[in-house]
Amino acid sequence: QQNGEPHRPQLHFTPKKGWMNDPNGMVFLNGKYHLFFQHNPNATVWGPMHWGHATSTDLVHWNELPIALYPDSLGTIFSGSAVIDVNNTAGFGKNAMVAIYTNHSHEGEKAGTDKFQNQSIAYSLDEGKTWTKYKGNPVLRNPGIRDFRDPKVSWYAPGKKWIMTLATLDHITFYSSPDLKTWKEESRFGKNTGAHGGVWECPDLIAFNDNGKLVWVLIVNLNPGGPNGGSATQYFTGSFNGNTFTPNDTTIKWLDYGPDEYAGITWSNTGNRKLFLGWMSNWQYANVVPTKNWRSAMTLPRELGIKKINGQYVVVSTLAKEVDAVTRPLKTVPHVQVADHYEVVKASGNADGLFRLDLSGLPVTDFSIALTNTKGEAVIVGFDRTANQFYIDRTRSGATDFEKGFAKKHVAPRIATNSNLNLTIAGDAASLELFADNGATVMTSIFFPSEPLSGITITAPGNLQIKNLKYSTFVQNAQK
Ligand code: FRU
Repeated sequence: QQNGEPHRPQLHFTPKKGWMNDPNGMVFLNGKYHLFFQHNPNATVWGPMHWGHATSTDLVHWNELPIALYPDSLGTIFSGSAVIDVNNTAGFGKNAMVAIYTNHSHEGEKAGTDKFQNQSIAYSLDEGKTWTKYKGNPVLRNPGIRDFRDPKVSWYAPGKKWIMTLATLDHITFYSSPDLKTWKEESRFGKNTGAHGGVWECPDLIAFNDNGKLVWVLIVNLNPGGPNGGSATQYFTGSFNGNTFTPNDTTIKWLDYGPDEYAGITWSNTGNRKLFLGWMSNWQYANVVPTKNWRSAMTLPRELGIKKINGQYVVVSTLAKEVDAVTRPLKTVPHVQVADHYEVVKASGNADGLFRLDLSGLPVTDFSIALTNTKGEAVIVGFDRTANQFYIDRTRSGATDFEKGFAKKHVAPRIATNSNLNLTIAGDAASLELFADNGATVMTSIFFPSEPLSGITITAPGNLQIKNLKYSTFVQNAQK
């Protein structure tokens, strides 16, 4: 609770007022991380989309700035990305910040055409404060595909060209451009690969260096059809040669198995670091969650890495080290012996529901961690050995009746195969992010208790030994 607003997180970015969905245009420039976001400033439900804007020097303290992009004659401003045009390929100026986004024409949609989503660009020469829309917009016209959106652009150095990764209904279409203004189709991917329970949205194409070998990862958000229902982020690992993406296996993989991470993509211009942020909600109920002056938060910033597990590449996500910098340990206990249960902090002991729990060296066995309050509400995080699954159970988490599927136990497979488990859990008033096995399995869940979940108890039927337990808080009021 912040400024008397229940459910307002302290560490996660939220807009001061109004509606927010996808992170957009995430780009690093001159020591600042820019976060633009899908924003309806005039209501707390989805509506005419603008790009809101916030900046941070450390990914944790965010400063919300005036709206960056307003709807125009081509439509409202849907999701997209931003790049720094270091070589001035577009001629807008050296190091211009260029946004590439989807113009969504609601008139066109009503008129019954399929061509109401087109890609446009705008540039800023003052670090994203003021923007000029390019006169030649749209730069990429819709060929007749209803869902034709969310361009993520990056520089492909070996080919000296920009690559646009675009979500086109049930597949990805790659385009290339020398100057961000003219685009040509390179290839398509995914019609018969991956999860297809809904429409493909918000893609991202990134490369990792695995000991000298380039591993490409194609992130594709999907709505609905996520592993726990509704919207979720899947990814493919493979190779990209400047023209086509070739997956190296056909396994369906999810960047976050929980119900509440969506539209997640990475920052551009961050060198070798792959910094990821998602919208912390789900289209199944995003418009009706019980917050008042604003709706939705972003996840905490995460750093992505690549790891081979059982012969397959897996993207691992952990909290960005900037989150460590605001972590303040309150209690570190080696060799915790959980004889039936162990109280980390008693109910009401952590009044604002802001905490971090790091557990390492757990055996692969049944256990649960209950976050509770004095009203009998709880969220339970645990591991089920027989099913080899992690879970987050928000059945009794407080307000759940705004959507019939909300009160549920969500599960995620254990991907790692080590003989010990480790977990990091970050909680902030109305959300939990679980990073298991150094980020091989990740789950995000939101909830709305009538008072913060202020107590933490670990329960294990057998005799559970935890090698190390660290309970921390985060620096208060990290968000400006
Ligand atoms: C994903 C999404 C995008 C679209 C935007 C509209 O959550 O549906 O595909 O650009 O939201 O707000």
